[in-house]
Amino acid sequence: MLGIETSCDETSAAIVSEVDGRWAIGSNIVASQIAIHREWGGVVPELASRQHIRDICGVVRSALETAKIELSDVDAIAVTQGPGLVGSLLVGVSFAKSLAVSLDRPLVPVHHLAGHIESLFLQHGNIQLPLVALVVSGGHTSLYLVEKPGSYRRIGRTRDDAAGEAYDKVAKLLGLGYPGGPVVDRRAREGNDQAIVFPLTRMTHADRNAPTMKGDLDFSFSGLKTAVLRYVRQRDERELPFTEGQINDICASFQRVVVTTLVDRLFEAAARFGAKSVGIAGGVSANSRLRQDALERGDRGAMPVYVPHISLSTDNAAMIAAAGLRNFHAGKRAGLDLNADASLEL
Ligand code: KG4
Ligand code: ZN
Repeated sequence: MLGIETSCDETSAAIVSEVDGRWAIGSNIVASQIAIHREWGGVVPELASRQHIRDICGVVRSALETAKIELSDVDAIAVTQGPGLVGSLLVGVSFAKSLAVSLDRPLVPVHHLAGHIESLFLQHGNIQLPLVALVVSGGHTSLYLVEKPGSYRRIGRTRDDAAGEAYDKVAKLLGLGYPGGPVVDRRAREGNDQAIVFPLTRMTHADRNAPTMKGDLDFSFSGLKTAVLRYVRQRDERELPFTEGQINDICASFQRVVVTTLVDRLFEAAARFGAKSVGIAGGVSANSRLRQDALERGDRGAMPVYVPHISLSTDNAAMIAAAGLRNFHAGKRAGLDLNADASLEL
């Protein structure tokens, strides 16, 4: 399976093969656009789509070369249909459609978040089900119940900002650059996580947009972001610049709240749905404290905790190829009328 992923600011292509039901990564090439967007403090959609166009041919060629195969050896093509930036998605979708028609191979559409969830199965093979998977990225923070392979039931989600978005915004506020997650993570390790008390938001009521869901497994990070903003502004007004140590303390205190919220809700969901395992996927699953706290909590409760390797945490096409194999076996195919969908639901 050739996987293609262009939903945001990474152009990626990968080869994942399946032998006796087991998946193996032949290659997973990622061309990151971070250096381009850093200058602007965040992803500029128009620049992202243009860069995908420049990179996609080379990235696909490199994925084939690394896996030591020819284009004619590809049996099927999986592509991220959404969600993401529409211009970026369109580059991958159009490229995949052209390949599928010219090679006469099936085209398999993939939901980006299904890709993140499948990164857990790609990394760990058989996982005891039911699994509760926390998908935490720049655009999403959701809990999914996986009762059987390839079935995803959403049981919680953020009402406002995604966790990764909160990291990116806090980093920007502190002048730490883009993307915020890795740098806040690094700075937090040097700081005191009890230095500042930021609020922990707890949802207790149903979402009016989803009245059938109780809503107490939902997340909200905009209050926390505003609390950090207020804390920083007060200091600015008194014209007292932060020391490096104080910045580390802000990062550590912010990260403590985010990670505690994520881990608490994940294990609560697992208990409520009788899960046999939990997993964390998406860009924020690269976070060192999130990994450590979740693994410790799992150890204490004898609950297996699965996280992907860092290279499978942030956006990559191997996870898309894996989800593509899952969809392929379920008979899912796309025609040449396949369109990118920026707000595709899972
Ligand atoms: O899954 P991903 O690569 O792209 C999306 O689908 O959004 O996730 C990117 C997000 C960014 O917000 C980035 O700041 C965050 O993941 N991230 C992290 C870390 N590494 C990446 N957040 C916290 N700690 C990290 N170490
Ligand atoms: Zn992602």
